[in-house]
Amino acid sequence: MILNSPMIALNMKAYRESSGENGLRLAKICEEVFEESGVCMVICPQQTDLSLICREVNMPCFSQHVDPIDAGSQTGWVSAGAIKDSGADGSLINHSEHKIRISEINILIDKLRSFGLCSLVCTNNEAVSKAVAELKPDAIAIEPPLLIGSGISVSTAEPEIISNTVDAVRRIDKGIKVLCGAGISNGKDVKSSIELGADGVLLASGIVKAKDPKEVLLDLISGI
Ligand code: G3P
Repeated sequence: MILNSPMIALNMKAYRESSGENGLRLAKICEEVFEESGVCMVICPQQTDLSLICREVNMPCFSQHVDPIDAGSQTGWVSAGAIKDSGADGSLINHSEHKIRISEINILIDKLRSFGLCSLVCTNNEAVSKAVAELKPDAIAIEPPLLIGSGISVSTAEPEIISNTVDAVRRIDKGIKVLCGAGISNGKDVKSSIELGADGVLLASGIVKAKDPKEVLLDLISGI
């Protein structure tokens, strides 16, 4: 599997700092750190840049979203097959900023798997994480919505949500990776997340908005 513990996943979100040429530049920086460090990393470029970045950058790439549709007469939706054709390795699903129904999460995990793609499902609390774990995704990322983009790390503000979610998910299926996210920005946050039992972190603004994303990435990795 492409997701190994410990790992760092970067969601590039819809920031201008990570779209078009900026997105490609940031992806190349991630590739450099990925190759130099050997640490498991995944990047999630904007949908409009996914295909280009998958071609230009040699590291795991996930889509930020995928729709529960089949290929064909559908407009403005993105199918799991199209994600596969873009060269991506998987997809985020159900991010707090792009929520879907549990029934759709169920369909998407299966659809992605049928194309050999990984599913990384975002959840907002322990109860939702348990429900999602029953659907057997490859990974779950627990992110308290209020801390997203806040600069306050989940590992500092809500450490128990990480350890409780890890325990709950492991009780259901030990094979599911559990990441945590929201406000993660440095190696100390990564270290405490891993000490709390997480397999890694999912972050965005700490890297995308940084003056020197490579420096931040190297600091993050120092926490592993
Ligand atoms: O998907 C990552 C995320 O929602 C956390 O965002 O900006 O707090 O790292 P951020």
